[in-house]
Amino acid sequence: MKPQENISLRPYHTFHSPVQAKLFAVVENVEEIIGLYKDFPDERKLVLGEGSNVLFLSDFFDGLVIINNVKGKTVLVENEEFVELAVAGGENWHELVTWTVQQGWGGIENLALIPGKAGTAPIQNIGAYGVELKDVIKRCYTIHLETFRVKVFEKPECAFGYRNSFFKKPENKGKFFIFRIDLELKKNHVPNTTYGSLKKYLEEKDIVQPSIVDVYQAVCEIRRSKLPDPDEVGNAGSFFKNPIIDTKHFQSLQQKFPEMPFYRISEEKYKIPAGWLIEKAGFKGMRRGDAGVHPKQALVLVNYGNATGREIYDLSEEIKEKVKEMSGIDLEREVNIIK
Ligand code: FAD
Ligand code: EPU
Repeated sequence: MKPQENISLRPYHTFHSPVQAKLFAVVENVEEIIGLYKDFPDERKLVLGEGSNVLFLSDFFDGLVIINNVKGKTVLVENEEFVELAVAGGENWHELVTWTVQQGWGGIENLALIPGKAGTAPIQNIGAYGVELKDVIKRCYTIHLETFRVKVFEKPECAFGYRNSFFKKPENKGKFFIFRIDLELKKNHVPNTTYGSLKKYLEEKDIVQPSIVDVYQAVCEIRRSKLPDPDEVGNAGSFFKNPIIDTKHFQSLQQKFPEMPFYRISEEKYKIPAGWLIEKAGFKGMRRGDAGVHPKQALVLVNYGNATGREIYDLSEEIKEKVKEMSGIDLEREVNIIK
């Protein structure tokens, strides 16, 4: 296939900052992407789903941007207890969640309204409201982008962690194209309602034994109330990961900030909400030109219109420095930075 030339990427990433791609193509199947890699061996390449977790630092991508539009979903196994699905990487994630909830299959209802494509979901092991992709995924089908062989990664090989996987590690980034994921969803599923704000929402509505539909609707409503819609205000969701610190560091911070929220994740480890740290450092709702920090969720950096990727990045640097000074914590970016 022949790529288009000099295409604006503004509609293809959710920060909507001005970026031009030298070459641009949308692939509908695996053969097309292999063809592009073979025909343009010397071009830099970037595969995108919906661009909802990237920040471009430059206004020109000197290479080939490939949008994954490989579609399809199939039931592989179905019995009284569960269903195993094969989902093509170019399927929209939220539409997939909605469809599974309509079928009465449980497991991903807490992951409703996360933007992006199914094939990208394993990259950072998407997570929300107490559930992560790793809880339901069985395997990923990939193309190795140098040998063009299919490589199947069973769940343990994917090395899933908090906002992390084998595919996100710097040494593996860009080496594999995920074209299919297999998920196992449950019939008669008891939804996970342990996450604080979800639990509170359901209690306030007097929903005692929530169905997967109840949880799906609750998650959608909570998300809509605090996360900006990227079609209205450019953003990529949480800009940073929630940091994990050891007991000693945690105790010293607790003395300094007794009101600091935290989750104890093991004997030795505590997770601190980065949103709280950023708010405490005074950035919530602040604006530098068109780059800003969302007034309802300090972990979300936003583009009010014409901010460049560089301006958003510079703001993130400033936040990192202030948070470090205040707490000794090094915030790590969650968003993929495209140099
Ligand atoms: P892209 O941004 O297109 O790509 C992300 C990275 O993956 C890039 O490095 C890209 O090169 C690579 N990549 C893309 N497709 C493939 C492929 N098929 N094979 C190999 N590499 C690939 N995330 C959460 O985990 N939880 C949330 O609750 C959440 N909420 C969000 C809310 C908002 C409003 C927004 C804008 C984002 C949110 N995110 C959240 C982040 C984002 O939705 C996820 O990271 C999502 O999986 C990104 O999908 P995408 O297709 O848009 O990825
Ligand atoms: N908080 C503040 N101020 C803020 C924002 C948050 O003090 O401005 C504190 C509050 O104490 C709040 C706590 O942080 O109770 C947690 O906030 P929230 O429930 O909004 O979740 P989060 O930790 O900020 C994480 C994920 C989100 C995911 C939600 C729900 C990360 C980096 N982010 O956010 O994922 O949707 O939990 O599970 O883990 C994403 O990855 O892009 C993303 C949006």
